[in-house]
Formats: sequence, structure tokens, C-alpha cells
Amino acid sequence: MMWYRPDVALPTGSGEGAGAGAGAGTGAGKGARAHLQVRGLSAGYGPVQVLRNVTLEARPGLTVILGPNGAGKTTLLRALNGLIPRMGEVLLDRDELPEKTHEIVRAGVALVAEGRQLFAQMTVTENLELGGWLVDKAERARRIEQAFADFPKLRERAQQLAGTMSGGEQQMVAVARAMMSAPRLLMLDEPSLGLAPRMVDELLAIARRIADAGTTVLMVEQNVKKALAVADRGYVLERGQIVASGDARLLARSTVVREAYLGADSADTTDARDAVARRKAQPVSAAAARRATPSSTR
Ligand SMILES: Nc1ncnc2c1ncn2[C@@H]1O[C@H](COP(=O)(O)OP(=O)(O)O)[C@@H](O)[C@H]1O
Ligand SMILES: [Mg+2]
Repeated sequence: MMWYRPDVALPTGSGEGAGAGAGAGTGAGKGARAHLQVRGLSAGYGPVQVLRNVTLEARPGLTVILGPNGAGKTTLLRALNGLIPRMGEVLLDRDELPEKTHEIVRAGVALVAEGRQLFAQMTVTENLELGGWLVDKAERARRIEQAFADFPKLRERAQQLAGTMSGGEQQMVAVARAMMSAPRLLMLDEPSLGLAPRMVDELLAIARRIADAGTTVLMVEQNVKKALAVADRGYVLERGQIVASGDARLLARSTVVREAYLGADSADTTDARDAVARRKAQPVSAAAARRATPSSTR
């Protein structure tokens, strides 16, 4: 795998702090296990403020951002990628993240945008080449070869125009293109959007493998159940604010996520007192607990 860099020790489990290599393949030349810290982030479009005081982190592993349409998930990734201005503090391994997109890419951050944004009239190989603009021709060729090793399906389609591929294949090209910059932090905006269930599973498994191999992954997903099943940690964003966060397994069992995102039939308790006790036991924020009370409105 491309992300199975020879200089990075493969993790033995999903735990943190396993051997961080020198990250020779990255543009940033730092340890591969990146830690993103976002504090008090605000961003929006002109006078419209979408994100308000968002604080979160993406530790080594896979962090998922959940939330309804229009919550500001894409806006968050766009702000982190320098596509729109931001206020607040963003640190990547304790260094302030630059503001301009090309500098952010050099710092080791790659974004697979919502809707993939491939060049439809270019071949798979040409799309991958564009993702490798940071490195010289020889290294670019080496990374393309690696991408084909990671995604055998893409090797078969090397000369196919990206626009003629299925949604799942296009998403794979988009992920492979982002990995061409050998990022320390990979951000994925709804990689499973519009895909058939089997392709959803395949894309989420790819995200998991990338995280296991040492690239920190921050992923936005609408597919709550499946996303929490592959993630280490999660956040719920609603109306531009974080309303719940925690370990992915606990979050999947939390009242706020079950009631709002997984549907009533996934609840395994009907007793209100039991629900309250569970809510207290879970590391969801006070705002989330308030939201989850019967009197709250959505
Ligand atoms: N280019 C834009 N200009 C103005 N408002 C926008 C723009 N893009 C998104 N918005 C608004 O920002 C809010 C958050 O959108 P978005 O981040 O795309 O949400 P999500 O990805 O969670 O569905 C929405 O109210 C949306 O209408
Ligand atoms: Mg979005």
C-alpha cells in the first residue's frame, strides 16, 4: 500500500503511539502520526457565520464528523484546507496550520472534497499525476505505481477517462489522488455519498486501512452507523456547533446519536430512567445532553 510506507512501522492494533517513522515520503518531513488540534474555530461565507467556536481534535487513527445536512461539516473541512478564511487556532503537531491551501498541502494535509472533484476528461493516471505536483517526476511515477498497487482496480483503468467510471471507482481515484501527496492528515468529505452499500463498505474500509497505516484521517460521513463502526472517535456537529463527542463505540450507543441519527428502532432501552443513567455515563457534552431531552426540538 502506498500508505504502508517502508519507514513507518505498521501498527499492531488500533492503539495510538505505535512506531512513528521519519515520514520521509511526506512533504512535511515529520513523524507520520499527525495530531490536529482545532480550538475556537469560526468560519463562514462573507457575513454568514456557519461555524461557531468549534473545538475538536483528530488524533492518530480515524475521527469521524457526523451531523445533518447543512450543519457545517463541509465548511469545517474547507476552512481547515484554507479554501475559506477561518478564525481561531488550528495546530498540526503543535505547529500553526498555514492559511493558504498550497502551504497546507505542503504541511502534509490533503482533502478529498465532497463530490470528488475529479477531472472528468482526464484519465485516471493524469488525475493521479495532478495529485503528485509536490514531488519530482521520478518520485511521482513511483507513487503512481504504488497507487496502482494499493488500488488494483485503478491499474486496470489507468487510461480510462475518470468521468466514465462508476461513482465508487471515481471516489477511489479521488482518495488515491489525495494520497499522492503522502499526507500526514487526510480529510474525507462524505466518501460514501451516493454509493451502493458494498462500495460504501469498501470506501470506509479503505479509510480505516489508511488510518491504521499511520495517516491520521478526519472523515465527514452521513452514514452514521457504518462510520462509527470503523472510526475511533467521533463528533456530532449541528448548526455549526459540536453537540456531542467521544469514543466511537460509546457515541454509537449514546442517546443523542441513537435518537437523532440511528432511528428509534436502534434504541435498546425504553425506560427513561435507564436512558438518563446511560446519558450520564457517556462522555457527551452538556449541550448534547440538553438536546437529547424530550422537550428539545430539532
Ligand atoms: N458557498 C456558500 N455560500 C454561502 N453559504 C454557504 C455556502 N456553502 C454552504 N453554505 C451554507 O453553510 C451552511 C453549512 O453548509 P455545509 O458546510 O455545506 O453543510 P454540510 O456539509 O454539513 O451539509 C449551510 O447553511 C449552507 O447553506
Ligand atoms: Mg457537506
